[in-house]
Amino acid sequence: MSGRLEGRLIGLGVTGSIAAYKAVELLRLLRAEGADVAVMLTPSAAKFVGPLSFRALSRHPVETELLDLLPDGRIGHIVLGDSADAIVVAPATAHFLGAMANGLASDVVTATCLASAAPVVVAPAMDGDMWTHPATQTNVARLRDVFRYTIVEPDAGPLASGQSGVGRLVELPVIVDAVVAAVTGRPVRAPDAAARPPIAETVRDADLGGRRLVVTAGGTREPIDPVRFIGNRSTGKMGVAVVRAALDRGARVTLLAAHLEVPLPEDDGLTVVPVSSTADLEAALAAATATGFDALVMAAAVADYRPAATVDHKLERGGPLTLQLEPTPDLLAGVARVVSGRDPRPFLVGFAAETGSLERAADKLRRKGVDLLVANDVAEPGSGFGTDTNRVSILAAGGSRDDLPVLSKRAVADAILDRVAEALDARDAAAQTSS
Ligand code: CTP
Repeated sequence: MSGRLEGRLIGLGVTGSIAAYKAVELLRLLRAEGADVAVMLTPSAAKFVGPLSFRALSRHPVETELLDLLPDGRIGHIVLGDSADAIVVAPATAHFLGAMANGLASDVVTATCLASAAPVVVAPAMDGDMWTHPATQTNVARLRDVFRYTIVEPDAGPLASGQSGVGRLVELPVIVDAVVAAVTGRPVRAPDAAARPPIAETVRDADLGGRRLVVTAGGTREPIDPVRFIGNRSTGKMGVAVVRAALDRGARVTLLAAHLEVPLPEDDGLTVVPVSSTADLEAALAAATATGFDALVMAAAVADYRPAATVDHKLERGGPLTLQLEPTPDLLAGVARVVSGRDPRPFLVGFAAETGSLERAADKLRRKGVDLLVANDVAEPGSGFGTDTNRVSILAAGGSRDDLPVLSKRAVADAILDRVAEALDARDAAAQTSS
């Protein structure tokens, strides 16, 4: 049986009411009616319920910031405003009603309604006194009578405050029926998927939800004098791809950021610790190790040698100059030693940049004491520094080796995190059965 919203695109706007969690179920019901649904969260709604479940269930990126562009560069509230067959705002706060009634578009939900000719269905939810306040009632009347929005009035019953009154979000099937009624008899506005919001790049469960990851990325710089350094060609693309993927999968991430040439995501789950030299990174790793984490992904390109002495003034041009270099400590091997006796022991991922064959990789994995080693031939086209793709082999401490095809760095990041998530789940399951 086909649903009553088959072929329709519905914009679901969620505002900051305690009933925001019910919008996840509303999304399910709309999908069950056959609708394609794109979700917008106001910043306060995002405090009640995060975007991840909405993204996984809707398969579209969730819009939370008015000024952020969609992943494909288009302007979200305009795309959704132009393509939606209906917009449903549920739950709608008193603030939404007031802002909308006055045409104030300071968040994605009001902006999309303002930018759209689609019918709008509004399901308010709030405290009883707020609902009966003349300001709210005036705003509701304006939305209904002047804007011709459908208002699905709240129910009476127990409220979040502990009191009873009118203000509870109406039962969800009533909202679905109102959306169906709003679109009935109208043609589908944007049957072409290209005119609709994009499909989310990867849609996964939050399989790293609640996990703490430390990621290192970028190239270290070893000072020679106050103006010169020994560096390397790392841009940080691979490490930052791991950060983005881990955040999307629900992890809290601490990024120890050496020198990066790529932008970082803005995300509440991300803490960035800037570092420059190997010594800085060593100190930052020691601090992170002391705090504790579930997994470390060591994607930074760490110097193997550094000037044995740094001079505190700019070296002048003169005759030949010899720099005395000393080896740096192997930071990853150092972390592996420190955490080796811990229970649970964190999961460690190293990278190995090789030129030529990957023969030494298995030995490197053992030498460093890591659980996974991601090896790539940086001399191969489409692999290595500054490219958007990578061809890697993932070696595991158990002896397995997966040779992956050329993939985007994001896909490589997800392949690594698939293994991290699985290993952490297995670790927890083992701890439960042994306790
Ligand atoms: N690494 C590290 N500390 C260093 C050098 C590297 O922790 N002083 C880490 C890197 O971040 C990477 C891994 O070790 O995760 C492998 O780096 P790579 O340069 O390939 O290996 P090396 O240990 O330098 O071995 P080799 O020089 O023999 O290739």
